[in-house]
Amino acid sequence: MRRALVGATLALACGSSGTAAQETAEPELAPYVVTGDAITEPLAGRRGDAALGQQLIGERHRSLCILCHALPSGAAPLQGTLAPSLAGIGSRLTEGQIRLRIVDMKRLNPESLMPSYHARPDAVRIAPAWQGKPVLDAAEIEHLVAYLVTLKSEPVEGVSR
Ligand code: HEC
Repeated sequence: MRRALVGATLALACGSSGTAAQETAEPELAPYVVTGDAITEPLAGRRGDAALGQQLIGERHRSLCILCHALPSGAAPLQGTLAPSLAGIGSRLTEGQIRLRIVDMKRLNPESLMPSYHARPDAVRIAPAWQGKPVLDAAEIEHLVAYLVTLKSEPVEGVSR
């Protein structure tokens, strides 16, 4: 009776540590193909929800985007000036170009300050809490992409201020 209990406890302990090791070794990275400077296919084959993307981009402690980037006026308070504004980004870049820049900007600019949000865990400048797993998962990346493609530049003509 007692032996059986110890055995079961051991099996449980081994089982759980095995899972933990696996999680560290295999972060949940969606596979993707880079074509030129873009990832044309949605990660995990699923497009995101622009409203969720807008919400996530405003969460400064999670996505961090607005620590560095500004958004179109009124979208989020206290925005960063370290990086190009994301206003009009949907007119400047294609959906696929935006996707690669969020997934792994360091592929395009190894010196970039921008975190690689869905890349190998050995990517440089990743805070210890995030090592071994992507900062944002595939669905979250797609929500951001879905939102950013909607940010078209405002027509210059006919704007009265
Ligand atoms: C630590 C600062 C930082 C953070 C945080 C950051 N970025 Fe960036 N981002 C940059 C910089 C700097 C660039 C300009 C390119 C470069 O220097 O690598 C850039 C470029 C971009 C571009 C391309 C802009 C263009 O005009 O070509 C996009 C799109 C982008 N970032 C989206 C995001 C999103 C979405 C997030 C949040 C998930 C984010 N960034 C978080 C610093 C940051």
